[in-house]
Amino acid sequence: MAASSSKTPSQRVTTRTLQKIRTDGGNISMLTAYDFPTAEVLDEAGIDILLVGDSLAMVVQGHDTTLPVTMDEMLYHAKMVGRAAKRAMVVVDLPFPEGQLEIMRSVEAGARVLKESNCHAVKLEGGAEQARRIETIVTAGIPVMAHVGLRPQNVHVDGGYRVQRNVTTLIEDAQAAEQAGAFAVLIECVPSDVGQAITEAVKVPTIGIGAGSHVTGQVLVTHDMIGFNSGYLPRFVRQFSDVRTTIHDAAVAYRNAIKGGEFPAGEESFR
Ligand code: KIV
Repeated sequence: MAASSSKTPSQRVTTRTLQKIRTDGGNISMLTAYDFPTAEVLDEAGIDILLVGDSLAMVVQGHDTTLPVTMDEMLYHAKMVGRAAKRAMVVVDLPFPEGQLEIMRSVEAGARVLKESNCHAVKLEGGAEQARRIETIVTAGIPVMAHVGLRPQNVHVDGGYRVQRNVTTLIEDAQAAEQAGAFAVLIECVPSDVGQAITEAVKVPTIGIGAGSHVTGQVLVTHDMIGFNSGYLPRFVRQFSDVRTTIHDAAVAYRNAIKGGEFPAGEESFR
């Protein structure tokens, strides 16, 4: 059967594209997206992977941790992003506790992502202890990106968000995830040399966030990267824009125009 016009498989970033980038020594770009217009502009900008991250619990819903967001809420956002992305691969986080309960529940959640949202893969926190789960999900035909290092869903067990330094455990986690069939490993908050050691220990692409530059790709939370966040910014974030100030200034100018009787003007009114 012929593929549909604007989304042919050859244009779409896939697991194979990402593996080729790693093999060729290239770099992968990844950002979070939670809605249609943001996903559309990030896709047009050529970002390789869009992540519907459970970070939406914090940056969109205003919670203190990623724990409260539900699978139905993730799917609500995934559908918007899946509708917008023409080229990027779209990965959707399995929110707490979809990746911790019975394995078949994770398979069902992953299957909903592929069936209902037009997205392409799931991300799952954990390494060695999640190997059987990763293998079962991949066997069901659902690509898995593993997430090792700092695992935000473990915040209460870890007593906060901390840089992860146990290189032996981290390498074991990444290798176990790779052997279980993960197509990529996201590494969060580790020293730069640990990010490099993990990357050298596996063949699949590694995507770092606070993991230094010796990894295959980088991911940031878009709201942090564009300056649309009122809260704490981790050290690894580079702010490439100041959208919060832009929106604030536009809102002040709008309010002033109304108060001053300048808006709407004649050309903005019907005759
Ligand atoms: O949910 C998220 O935004 C993440 C980050 C590590 C990118 O998982």
